[in-house]
Amino acid sequence: SFPVVVLISGSGSNLQALIDQSLQGKLNINIAAVISNKAQAYGLERATIAGIATHALDHKLFESREAFDAELQKLIDQYQPKLVVLAGFMRILSETFAKHYEGRMLNIHPSLLPKYKGLNTHQRAIDANDKEHGVSVHFVSPELDAGAVILQASTQIEKNDNADSLATKVHTLEHIIYPLAVKWFSEERLTLSDGAAFLDNTKLPESGVL
Ligand code: GAR
Repeated sequence: SFPVVVLISGSGSNLQALIDQSLQGKLNINIAAVISNKAQAYGLERATIAGIATHALDHKLFESREAFDAELQKLIDQYQPKLVVLAGFMRILSETFAKHYEGRMLNIHPSLLPKYKGLNTHQRAIDANDKEHGVSVHFVSPELDAGAVILQASTQIEKNDNADSLATKVHTLEHIIYPLAVKWFSEERLTLSDGAAFLDNTKLPESGVL
């Protein structure tokens, strides 16, 4: 079926959500490989348990971002994925790399973009006294966290929330919306068109359920 490569740097709970939905038959993709820039990432164990090929590619062994990205691209392309999924992959991407996968690489970012690009998004939302916070799935473009937004989910920020409690709330939302966006893409309903995300309503299921 639909070959996908997932890139991670850490725990891989979003990867796990994709694995689980695939096993449950809700998502018709084949996760061909999981690649981490950190050898210790727990997500690599999750992949191994699921019988998925894994690679650790340490960015520190390369002399430049471009050199690392070129090697990463080579590795990814061996699997000929139709989609590359960034799931907690904590690397800034070179322009060449981002352009190579334009329209076929998704990212999930823990904020209501365009708010809080970059790091420490939960604390920044609290510090700004925001009433709500959330998560965005977007197409990756060369500019950091600036690609076309596909889907967002939000949650209230309550008085006693801290960065950890907000991260937990956001993770729950991530595990719902990321598999949904990947599902749309795998059904060839979701495209990047003139810099905007486009969901083809002529391909909606008859039930009307997304
Ligand atoms: C997720 O919260 C994701 O939104 C965030 O990293 C976490 C990974 O969790 N991504 C970024 O901050 C990207 N800049 P996971 O490893 O459990 O899926």
